[in-house]
Amino acid sequence: MSPQEMSELSGRRILLGVTGGIAAYKSAELIRGLRRAGAEVRVVMTEAAAQFITPMTLQALSGWPVRQDLFDREHEAAMGHIELARWADLVLVAPATADFLARLAAGMADDLLTALCLAAETRICVAPAMNQGMWRNPATEANVAVLKQRGIESWGPAEGDQACGETGPGRMLEPEELIRRVANLYPGTVLRGVRVLLTAGPTREPLDPVRYLTNRSSGKMGYALAGAFRDQGARVVLVSGPVHLSSPPGIEVTRVETALEMQAAVMDRVEMCDIFVACAAVADYRPLEAAPHKIKKDAQSMEIGMTRNPDILAGVAGLPKPPFCVGFAAETQRPEAYAEQKRITKGVDMIAANLVGAAEGGFEKDENSLTVLWEGGRVVLPMSEKRRLAEALVEQIAKQYEKTDTAENS
Ligand code: C5P
Repeated sequence: MSPQEMSELSGRRILLGVTGGIAAYKSAELIRGLRRAGAEVRVVMTEAAAQFITPMTLQALSGWPVRQDLFDREHEAAMGHIELARWADLVLVAPATADFLARLAAGMADDLLTALCLAAETRICVAPAMNQGMWRNPATEANVAVLKQRGIESWGPAEGDQACGETGPGRMLEPEELIRRVANLYPGTVLRGVRVLLTAGPTREPLDPVRYLTNRSSGKMGYALAGAFRDQGARVVLVSGPVHLSSPPGIEVTRVETALEMQAAVMDRVEMCDIFVACAAVADYRPLEAAPHKIKKDAQSMEIGMTRNPDILAGVAGLPKPPFCVGFAAETQRPEAYAEQKRITKGVDMIAANLVGAAEGGFEKDENSLTVLWEGGRVVLPMSEKRRLAEALVEQIAKQYEKTDTAENS
């Protein structure tokens, strides 16, 4: 683990839930690693977990009595389960069995750990561990999907040999990987207190009450960027077009549909931001007017009169006191050349170019690569998962922002 991750966990309060699977023996290593990285760890075990590892072992490693029972008077008097839920700044359940995921998804509170999770207002992450068939079962899939919708992150499982002799997905992630992910959850300090405004997703331009024009943007890159800014300590406001993504925790999201609504939402908030990132795929044109009623298919052909939408990014960059502006250029050919042209004509500080319509990367994909350009500089961020790419892009933005910010204040 890097020294940066070590310090990032100091003073963090992690409630570790251990449920009944063979991977529970790895919880011991997990507790040691988290504590070594500076975190305070308290452990709650289910009854079944105690069949796999003793509470005494986990008590010795965590340095606190292990809690097992909702109705344990002695420990409830010392720190009640609601208090314990409030104490934690992260609830991590590792391993999380299929049964536990089902109970969590159902919102049950029939033992201490589920009751805690229900009461917790903090972030909850689970590290599933189970037989590959149980993991692939549609019931488990549905439970994980419900949890995801509620903002509960599922980490893993990994693929490989299983204790039962089978091979496939279902192994709990290794403690070291779990610790790395925990460290990544906590804000870095690079952009602490910096206010970031982002646009993401497509816009919808109505033709009539039931039809609209739109594009293939999924919003994934913008949402990943919003999360990466948050994780560096920035205060993030996201103006989002219609997407199938849930709001990332800790980010203020304003949902809009049309380009004009997006522009109004941005202009309302732009004075309050230091960095503006235009990630949205804004429709260039909108129908001249939206028909008040559903258009009937009487004619053999039809024409739709269109008018230009305002360029939100150019509008922000052209303000008398603009924030640090970052744009995107999605191109089907010569991305870098078009992007450089766009950077200059829109008057933005940085532009990230990507090739769309190719087999890899771009719209609707989970992976992407970017070439980032600014005055007198460029960097290529290679093909990677959008979340990783977002982290790398935020790092570049932070570097350039810091330079202009220091120049302005000197
Ligand atoms: O001109 P083009 O649409 O290719 O520029 C893309 C960049 O400009 C993106 O950053 C996009 O979010 C932004 N943009 C905008 N408003 C528009 C069109 C594009 O903010 N109407």
